[in-house]
Amino acid sequence: MVKDLSVTLSGVHLDNPVIPASGTYGFGQEFLPYYDINILGSLSFKGTTAEARFGNPTPRIAECHDGMLNSVGLQNPGVEHVIAEELPALRKVFHKPIIANISGFSVEEYVRCVELLTREEQVEILEINISCPNVRHGGMAFGTNPEAAADITRAVKQVATKPVYMKLSPNVTDIVSIARACEDAGADGLSLINTLLGMRIDLRRRRPVLANVMGGYSGPGIFPVALRMVYQVTGAVNIPVIGMGGISSARDVIEMMMAGAKAVQVGAANLVDPCACKKIIEELPQEMENLGIDRLSDIQRV
Ligand code: SIN
Repeated sequence: MVKDLSVTLSGVHLDNPVIPASGTYGFGQEFLPYYDINILGSLSFKGTTAEARFGNPTPRIAECHDGMLNSVGLQNPGVEHVIAEELPALRKVFHKPIIANISGFSVEEYVRCVELLTREEQVEILEINISCPNVRHGGMAFGTNPEAAADITRAVKQVATKPVYMKLSPNVTDIVSIARACEDAGADGLSLINTLLGMRIDLRRRRPVLANVMGGYSGPGIFPVALRMVYQVTGAVNIPVIGMGGISSARDVIEMMMAGAKAVQVGAANLVDPCACKKIIEELPQEMENLGIDRLSDIQRV
């Protein structure tokens, strides 16, 4: 039997649940030499702020067992450039729904970016990043406090004409309280998890490897933590969750969906193998066959 990989997020139809995670896929262009990116379910583009940002000083990548640390610091060309240059270029080569990932340093900045990006036809979901661990003000500061998370959610919902998904941080004691605060404030969905705050030390130099000292840990090592948090959150809210954190195979996708996720994002795996998403999408029908699953959307939370 032909397998049905399609899923729906807040009324947005995706041919399959595999979405490259923001910050690991740019605006898609670098992946064009490797495969037709239209096989993806969607694409979450690099987190965009109101103004262009150069990001943090280097080094800002450190390799780890089972993953990596990044302290990029929201490098991006700014929302107006994204709308004028990146989205038209992406539109030429990608014909699927786009997820706009938005970051900010104040409520006003999030609102400004949402006002502009919600008007873009191909942007079908707004993913509000309140979980970047690499910037001092804003970012994770909003996502580690239920009141602040709710304030941002309410403010962006007032101007959004597309579904709003709040992207949550794992760097909290109780992610369920943040998830519930976003749901109560009107979020249409949630994305989780962002990276785990970590650190490495260069033994010879006796200094932190990262110029910013700490960074966000991603990769297969965080998969069990992400799975646990998705499971906890999907047991507590009634809005859809996009699960992410260390996914690198079709089996991981199915496991994340059994934890309650309606779709998944693949992040660090794209940096190890540019064809990671393609391989996962191609592997899914066989894994579904092995597990007796005909439609991914039939998967129930365990
Ligand atoms: C970064 O640009 O620092 C990474 C984005 C994030 O972790 O949210």
